[in-house]
Amino acid sequence: MITRRDAGLGLLASASLLSGTLSAAAAPAQPIDLPKPALRGTPLADALRARRSTREFADRPLPLPVLSGLLWSAFGINRPQSGDRTAPSWRHAIEAEIYLAMKDGVWRYEPAGHRLLPHLGEDIRAETGVQDFVGPAPLNLVYVADGARMGNTPAEDKRLYAFTDAGFIGQNVYLFCASEGLATVFRGSVDRDRLGRTLRLGADHFVTFAQTVGFPKG
Ligand SMILES: Cc1cc2nc3c(=O)[nH]c(=O)nc-3n(C[C@H](O)[C@H](O)[C@H](O)COP(=O)(O)O)c2cc1C
Repeated sequence: MITRRDAGLGLLASASLLSGTLSAAAAPAQPIDLPKPALRGTPLADALRARRSTREFADRPLPLPVLSGLLWSAFGINRPQSGDRTAPSWRHAIEAEIYLAMKDGVWRYEPAGHRLLPHLGEDIRAETGVQDFVGPAPLNLVYVADGARMGNTPAEDKRLYAFTDAGFIGQNVYLFCASEGLATVFRGSVDRDRLGRTLRLGADHFVTFAQTVGFPKG
């Protein structure tokens, strides 16, 4: 596996990081601590009114403070004492993992540290879906389940519950995006086996859904 760390892409924070975005030019090989999540506090009713799927995205990366709020809303820790999350999970399995496919490579969200862990130093955005808008969009979230966390349940049930759990995360992302004026669409049209291989997932892991996020176009 060629990870960003293996590729030795540099250890220093880049100018783009200092300005609050990630870029392809000088991505660090180190985890990135996300700023404390700060949500706008939009009333739930307004977010529900604004929630929609959008398939056109501006060619602009998401600043780190936006990624922070997005990921915390998606599946961050909302009860620090227990480590419990903003979305429910079947039998408290907490099997969902979130990968971020961006221009500069692939990262994995680590809720415990509220940070991004470098995963792959490749731009795989186009492989996260089958629709034309996916490749150029600044961010594609890939929802992955760790089946090992789901015990001895039959494989078919694991898939059923893992896909359900990912849907709750997707709705959190929809509501965050509605609240923050971002564009998003949850996606089931994914070549899951191919994407799992591209992500070099372990044998117990499988892709459930993807979700594109960005600033609206125009
Ligand atoms: C399980 C699921 C899978 C979906 N897969 C896709 C997809 O692959 N591509 C896409 O463009 N939209 C996808 N969508 C978004 C739906 O098309 C969208 O929610 C629907 O058209 C209603 O539009 P709205 O979200 O704006 O209300 C999916 C939605 C769900 C819930």
